[in-house]
Amino acid sequence: MEKYVINGGNALHGEVEISGAKNAAVAIIPATVLAQDICVIENVPNISDVSILFQILRDLGANVRYLAKNTVEIDTRNIREPVVPYESARHLRASYYFLGAFLGRFGEAHVSPPGGCNFGVRPIDQHIKGFEALGATVTTDYGFINAQSDEMFGAHIYLDVVSVGATVNIMLAAVRAKGLTILENAAKEPHIVDLANFLNSMGADIRGAGTDVIKIHGVDIMHGTNYPIIPDQIEAGTYMTIAAATGGDVLIKNVIPKHLEAITDKLIQAGCEIEEYDDSIRVRRTGVLNKTNVKTLPHPGFPTDMQPQMTTLLSIAQGTSIVTEGVWDNRFKYVDELHRMGAKIQVDGKVAVVEGVEQLSGAQVKALDLRAGVALVQAALSAKGTSEIEDIHWVERGYEDLIGKLQKIGADIKKVTIPDGAFAKNA
Ligand code: EPZ
Repeated sequence: MEKYVINGGNALHGEVEISGAKNAAVAIIPATVLAQDICVIENVPNISDVSILFQILRDLGANVRYLAKNTVEIDTRNIREPVVPYESARHLRASYYFLGAFLGRFGEAHVSPPGGCNFGVRPIDQHIKGFEALGATVTTDYGFINAQSDEMFGAHIYLDVVSVGATVNIMLAAVRAKGLTILENAAKEPHIVDLANFLNSMGADIRGAGTDVIKIHGVDIMHGTNYPIIPDQIEAGTYMTIAAATGGDVLIKNVIPKHLEAITDKLIQAGCEIEEYDDSIRVRRTGVLNKTNVKTLPHPGFPTDMQPQMTTLLSIAQGTSIVTEGVWDNRFKYVDELHRMGAKIQVDGKVAVVEGVEQLSGAQVKALDLRAGVALVQAALSAKGTSEIEDIHWVERGYEDLIGKLQKIGADIKKVTIPDGAFAKNA
């Protein structure tokens, strides 16, 4: 088993380079199925979610090869079986994007229900609502979600709830459906716009991505493309809160500042000095952190995927902050781990009351999901003393070269491999 060992208390200084956006990559990679052709994708993050999707494509008969460290060539001409089995699908949420992609290409899909971070119920009723509106029959049996349609026709679909996943999956299923699809109450995240741009570069006809009404004119044929993925808004935001938490001064490069506006606004309220440049952003914190209230909302609101990092930052601010989780039912489970580090946070359902303390103290803690795990890394970097973080596979799903990037700006962090069970002896 692997764990991080972190000696906290250093103010971090220097430059960090942001990788391609995980949540764009995990939608774009399945989307390559829609063209019986070759796609070259640049700025692909080297993270485990991406590796798993490449393995799923190879198991389907696609040819996937790296042309450079973050550039991948994907040839989906030989894909035959529109099937993703449990063994593959269970590792990540995004495996269900193969439902929309297979429907778009084959009119048929058999995908085992997805895995992913566990912070409450994660239904897919809106995905199914969209597929059925487009003419597919959807059943669930023998451990598979099965979607089938002789012919897909454009439809007018209104999402009951703003859903990134449903917006992605319906776009994938609709791009080759006959006629016009209008998707209302659509998600507006940067990765939705990136997927739409990718699909359009393959010959799709999608307009309005980034607004709450997306119009898709179905096309018969889609072709290969060469496409660079946008920088990761959440990875960038995470290094912003890490710089703030350690009282450091970090230049975060390869970002789109507009995608970070909600995070920048909150950090300025919390007392940070932020300078925006064309494709980088500098975060400094010299004085005390101020309390501030946060409510997570779909884009352009404060991103839910930054909630654990922001709550952890506010746990060492002066005064009491209120954090409201507006997207997920149960995304504060990590707070128990922060309590072990001395945080004073009370959670009641979707609301956390965060009473700031002077400094956290190092402890042995566990990563419970991707963003909760990186929030514990942030907590450990700002804490007095040594921390050990277990179950770091969650963190490695979404952060390329986390150790290398943090060490480069002065963090005392290393990854330690211990024989399974050894940890238990010290428990
Ligand atoms: C995506 O998850 C992201 N994952 C999540 O990021 C992110 O937290 C979430 O969007 C919100 O931004 C990926 O992109 C791979 P949703 P997704 O569908 O698509 C409800 C990370 O850390 N809902 O936008 O699963 C749902 O319960 C991960 O990178 C339905 O009710 O989220 C939730 O309350 C964690 N029915 C809300 O909508 C549905 O059919 C938003 O969920 C679908 C969703």
